[in-house]
Amino acid sequence: MAVDMKRLTILGATGSIGASTADVMLRHCERFSAYALVGGKNAERMLQLAESLQPEWVVMTDSKAAHSLHGRLPDGIRLEAGMDAAIAMAEAEQADIVVAAMVGSAGLPAALAAVKAGKKVCLANKECLVTAGRIFMQEAHLSGSEVVPVDSEHAAVHQCIAGHDRDSIERIVLTASGGPFLDRDISTMASVTPEEAVAHPNWDMGAKISVDSATMVNKALELIEARWLFDMPPDKLSAIIHPQSIVHALVEYRDGSVLAQMAEPDMRAPVAYALQATPRLNSGISMLDLVKRQRLDFIGIDEQRFPIMPLVRDVMKSDDSMSIAFNAANEEANLAFREHRLSFTDITQIIEDVLGMSADISVHSLDQVWSLDQEARRLAASAIWKVGG
Ligand SMILES: NC(=O)c1ccc[n+]([C@@H]2O[C@H](COP(=O)([O-])OP(=O)(O)OC[C@H]3O[C@@H](n4cnc5c(N)ncnc54)[C@H](OP(=O)(O)O)[C@@H]3O)[C@@H](O)[C@H]2O)c1
Repeated sequence: MAVDMKRLTILGATGSIGASTADVMLRHCERFSAYALVGGKNAERMLQLAESLQPEWVVMTDSKAAHSLHGRLPDGIRLEAGMDAAIAMAEAEQADIVVAAMVGSAGLPAALAAVKAGKKVCLANKECLVTAGRIFMQEAHLSGSEVVPVDSEHAAVHQCIAGHDRDSIERIVLTASGGPFLDRDISTMASVTPEEAVAHPNWDMGAKISVDSATMVNKALELIEARWLFDMPPDKLSAIIHPQSIVHALVEYRDGSVLAQMAEPDMRAPVAYALQATPRLNSGISMLDLVKRQRLDFIGIDEQRFPIMPLVRDVMKSDDSMSIAFNAANEEANLAFREHRLSFTDITQIIEDVLGMSADISVHSLDQVWSLDQEARRLAASAIWKVGG
């Protein structure tokens, strides 16, 4: 039977989620083709992707990277530069599905453009919902855009709530691996190096999210993301540590039933589900063998080791401006740590300092999002300079 071919724009094609998406697409060439691939600076990776996926367009938001691709792309592939071109690819009529996988709040304008254009948006970029969740989901509602999570925990929740009554949900529990420092002596946490922090035990991810996993900021961002995606009050959202990363989330129902979703930790599974939920696609990941796995452990989060958790609870009880400050302070502190300008434990301290100096107000426009984001980054830069020099 002939299948309906879907054309994709991939924002953040040159990253880790971009690679998982390309892998799934190449397994299903009869279902998916690339309309546009959008990257930032990594021209060499884009060249490889363009050769394998043969998109109509390639966009590099970095103009130098775009320049370096002139005359090197396979015949017929058109090249553009800049964020406006990325936005145009996200809202283009020819794109049926947009995979939003740029990292950080830089990914918001293009993802939001896709939502406003009514696209099906496979959302990996959690920072979009953390900074502008209310606006993002309102726009999706207005345009009829379907926003499907790619984050493994949210993809798990999506599967556990499908076909169930929302009012019967008592609690959504996201699992966290605990990252590379779950068993490390707490007194040595300040001396963690960026190289140690990006070496995640279970997942192969980009540098920023790997550091976010090590600090547990990733789980904090995911709790805020879940609030908007599933329209859940903060007190119904929680997280536990599950070091094996096999159970990705659990949904507890009023009758005492708990539904959980399990899979080997490989982002191709949630990407495949987001691209097409029914019928399920072969994602290429290996089948889970529980007998071989032998045990699954679950541990409460030690808030002394992960002091970000009480902070995010406060953020979720506050107005939207605090999530923006939380995210911006983290993006700045995470980068400063990776550039050896800040110690590992200072990341959470900088976030706390910035939250303490930020206004707790409601947010109604994108202009307001950007101005609060800029203000928080300015506060973070000054706090980082004072701590790290
Ligand atoms: N990796 C995972 O397993 C995973 C799981 C769940 C959610 N996520 C989320 O998915 C998003 C992407 O994560 P990732 O791990 O794939 O990150 P990554 O490997 O670091 O890739 C990031 C992508 O964003 C692009 N990019 C960065 N800054 C940009 C800018 N200013 N303008 C345009 N493009 C820019 C990069 O382009 P260049 O490299 O070409 O500069 C790259 O394509 C993040 O929001 C992350 O939280 C990731």
